[in-house]
Amino acid sequence: MGWNSWNAFGISPRLIEPIIEQTADLMVSLGLRDAGYRYLNIDDGWQGERDSDSRITVDAQRFPSGFKHLADYAHAKGLLFGLYSDAGTHTCGGKEGSLGYEDIDARTYADWGVDYLKYDNCFNRFLPIRPRFEKMRDALNATGRPIFYSLCEWGVDDVWEWGASVGNSWRVTDDLMDHWDSLAHNADDASQLHQHAGPGSWNDWDMLQVGNGGLRWIEEQAHFAMWCLSKSPLVIGTDLRKISPDALALLKNEELIAVHQDPLGKAARLAWHKGPYRVFSAPLADGSVAVVIWNRHTHFNAYFYDDGSQCNYTTATFPIPKKLMNHTEYFKPPPDHHPHTRRRRRLQDERGDTSVPPDDTNGWDPPCKDNPRGNTVQVRLAWFAADMNLDTVKGVRVRDMLLKQDMGTRMGDSFPIDVRNHGARALRLTPVYDGNHQQQQQQQADIVHYA
Ligand code: GLA
Repeated sequence: MGWNSWNAFGISPRLIEPIIEQTADLMVSLGLRDAGYRYLNIDDGWQGERDSDSRITVDAQRFPSGFKHLADYAHAKGLLFGLYSDAGTHTCGGKEGSLGYEDIDARTYADWGVDYLKYDNCFNRFLPIRPRFEKMRDALNATGRPIFYSLCEWGVDDVWEWGASVGNSWRVTDDLMDHWDSLAHNADDASQLHQHAGPGSWNDWDMLQVGNGGLRWIEEQAHFAMWCLSKSPLVIGTDLRKISPDALALLKNEELIAVHQDPLGKAARLAWHKGPYRVFSAPLADGSVAVVIWNRHTHFNAYFYDDGSQCNYTTATFPIPKKLMNHTEYFKPPPDHHPHTRRRRRLQDERGDTSVPPDDTNGWDPPCKDNPRGNTVQVRLAWFAADMNLDTVKGVRVRDMLLKQDMGTRMGDSFPIDVRNHGARALRLTPVYDGNHQQQQQQQADIVHYA
């Protein structure tokens, strides 16, 4: 968990030393460090030239005191310090890459006090991927300094099959952009890889866009809940100097963070889907189950009032952004900004069923048809058969982790819940077992006790 400069600043010259120091200060004063966000990471754009000994230098205009200073600054605040480089001749932003300089770069990072390296894949001369990432792994290990190694090759060459032997996390998708289409498609792609994540080696769904303004509030909630259930690294990507109280509260949601940090380390699987609905679930160490119910139905009108207070299209005075007026244009996929293109994997569920329909993007409904309550989903415990023992379950205690509200105990095998278009409900379900189960548990405990 941490912060990274890319989503908020990109490669802009605005990314300068005082901003990194301020961000470190804010991570502490806003309570983010204590919520678990410890890495302070500088992404692309920091590099200067190589010196006469081939050592990489820091852009002195932007970071005049150098990175030893910034790492010390972060460490003094109880934070960790991270950098970005690339397994190619240049970074994606055209700066010096590490290809051929792995050993000296790793030593330089260790000398500076770096704790995290994000390693990208641009300008790679089409050389095989894995050996280039292994080379940097070996170089980092040779320094003797523990450095979290974050592979960023965008989910190509089946990285989930070999990433655990090379790094601590691996990106599984193209960059997450700050809009709905990117969020929905990346989540569909990434969620199919749940079985490859586990303690110490994680699928990286890319850095968070919470707080950046391109997603509606309920989409941001769905985004954060999905990242927590998937156990993706949680890396904040917004400018903390401007963060809204809502975005901050979402990022600090301790119930979802507890799911993210759950010792079982199980990433959520797609437990059920129909039409626009997706239901994801992950078992937790205490026997409860984390569930996200995501309504992916796309009504154009869903772009306006979250509280549904104004839904009369003809009299409403709210501004409809011009680009959204033409929804065909809006739903065009974003331009692929990578030097490669990647075919989208089709969503498939546990049984390999690839018939999951794409999002409904054809509907045009005037805003007054918007339903602030959302649509009702009948949640069936049978969907979670892999996560709880249904033979002895009589019902579940339901906790809404986004609203931080208890929803009572629901007996029986299903219960209804409302979910807004594009929104998600994030629930913690604690099974209520029958006496038989308790007897079985007790017998088990006795066996252990007297063995
Ligand atoms: C790639 C990565 C991004 C970011 C940029 C920097 O696009 O996927 O996360 O690091 O490069 O140029």
